[in-house]
Order: sequence, then structure tokens, then C-alpha cells
Amino acid sequence: MKKTILTGIKPTGQVHLGNYIGAIKPALELAKIQEYKQAYFVADYHGLTKIHDAKEFRHLSYGIAATWLALGLDADKTIFYRQSDVPEIFELNWIFSCFASKGLMNRAHAYKSIVDSNKQHNRDVDFGVNMGIYNYPILMTADILMFNTEIVPVGKDQVQHVEIARDIAKNFNNTYGETFGLPKYKIQESTAILPGLDGRKMSKSYNNTIPIFEEPKKLEKLINKIKTDSLPPDAPKDPHTSIIFMLYKEFASPSETQQMKDQYLNGIGWGEAKAELFKVMNRFLEEPREKYNELMASTGTLDNILQEGAEKARGLSIPFLKQIKRKIGVI
Ligand code: TRP
Repeated sequence: MKKTILTGIKPTGQVHLGNYIGAIKPALELAKIQEYKQAYFVADYHGLTKIHDAKEFRHLSYGIAATWLALGLDADKTIFYRQSDVPEIFELNWIFSCFASKGLMNRAHAYKSIVDSNKQHNRDVDFGVNMGIYNYPILMTADILMFNTEIVPVGKDQVQHVEIARDIAKNFNNTYGETFGLPKYKIQESTAILPGLDGRKMSKSYNNTIPIFEEPKKLEKLINKIKTDSLPPDAPKDPHTSIIFMLYKEFASPSETQQMKDQYLNGIGWGEAKAELFKVMNRFLEEPREKYNELMASTGTLDNILQEGAEKARGLSIPFLKQIKRKIGVI
């Protein structure tokens, strides 16, 4: 049987360079390997933990679907679906919640960081926590194990969730016999933490992101906002500590990267470095941006593609869930 690679993105904001470089790009690289069975999805119900405005929710969900396709995902060769179109995942979610200890969820980092911040501000520890946030890792476990996934390409912040999926799989297997293989995460080591405009990790919560499908003028403006030091233009600069260089090498060819490195060592003005960054970035993003805009203007097309994907996914999830229900004695 082919190994399965699976990953999802939750629609909680505009997709930014950190998402692209940390998770989407490596996943699409793996997608080129034909020996794998590939599943990519819009984790829309994970987004519901945060987004409670219907219009925004719909727009962001389509946005994730359009992003995958615009960046080159081939929906014919992969299983490409919207999580909420596969109801078996949510049935499995309940089953798994009976095999996930509450203590394990208490230790999940997203929940824990809200609790920590509440404590700091002298609020009730669970202030602002809905059960969706609390149970988030269990639903993610169902996403992963529903398709017997072996490899999960994710950003570094999701590693703990894949480990939780392994724990839950083990608990289930210990009770009912070997049912789920244990998934492994795969992170992009070299760029595990992509810096944002201010030098901290690029993250929606820091408001320092560069959305990938921003219009060229805005993209240029954002790049100009990247924080730099006050070295004069002709002073030698260290490429390895430069946000601009870290981004540059993700979009430039190896020879361009080498050239830029030399320019840094010889002295390059920040303005010029930023202009070069914009050039290579826009060169790469131009076509996907256009495709993205086209797809967003034709959500009916997106619906059809996602519907076909959901049928493929359910071709696997319906029989597998039946087996699981037999094991636990529901049927
Ligand atoms: N939690 C992931 C994120 O925030 C999204 C996600 C949901 C996911 N289900 C998944 C990723 C299953 C990989 C596998 O980025």
C-alpha cells in the first residue's frame, strides 16, 4: 500500500509567507513524489475555534482552497477536500475524545498559552477558551488517523499535535488491537522559524506578516517596512542575520542567492536589498496571484473541485470508520 502524506491549513487569516515557506512549500515538494498517496485539505472546522463571522469564515475557507490550487496543487492527483465535507472525521473525533486524557489536552500549547496569559492578567484561567480550542488536538488527530497517514508536513508549532495523535493512536491500539499506524511529522528545518517584519517569528498574532497574495504595490510597501539596522549603505553586512536575506533565498535561484551574499559582504544598501527582494518575490508570485484571484472570483469552481475531493476522501473514510465502529462494539 502507498504511504499517505496529509496536511491541512485552517482558515483563520490571510495566508502569509510563514505559512508558505514553513508548510505549503515543503508539502508541495513532497507532492511531487508519486509513490505517496496525498491528502490536502481545508481545515475549516478548526477555523471555527476563532472565526465567528459567517461571511469572513466562508471567504477565508475559499481562500485556503484557492491558495493550494494557485500554488500548484493538482487536485486530480491528490485527495483535496474541505474537512467539513467529510462527516466521518467528526464521528472519529468523538471516538478519540474517549481515548484522550484530559491531562493531555491541558498540556497542549495553544490552550496552555491562553491559560498562562490569563494567569498573568489575573483573569479566570479559562477566560476566552471555548471547547473547540481545548479539543483542537483531538480533531486534528481524527484528520490524520482517518486516512492512516504516515507523514504530516507541518510548521514547527504543530509538532506537539502530531505527537498527541500518536499517543491517542497508541491508546486505541492498546485497547482494540492494531488499528492505526503512528504518524510522523515532517518540518522544514532550515526555515522552521521565518522572521516577520519586526524580526520576531512571522505570525498572525504578532501582526508582522507578509500575505502572499498581496497586490504588488502593497507587497512592495510591506517589504519596505522590514526592520533593518542603521549601518550605512556601503558597510559590509551579515546575510545570516538579515530578514531580507532569509526571505530572498526562498525565492531566488542559487546563483542569485550567491550573488546577493557577495553583495552583502561587500556592502549593499538596505533600500537596494529590499528592491531586489521585491523583484524575486514578485516574479515568483505573479502567476499564482492571478490564478488565486481568478479562483476567488469563481467560488462555484472551487465548490466543484472540493466536492469531488470529498467523494474521494469518503471513499476511504466510510469503510474505515465502519471497521473502527465494529472494533469498539458500536456495530
Ligand atoms: N492545526 C494545523 C495548523 O494550525 C491545521 C491542521 C488541522 C492540520 N488538521 C491538520 C495540519 C491535520 C496537519 C494535519 O496549521
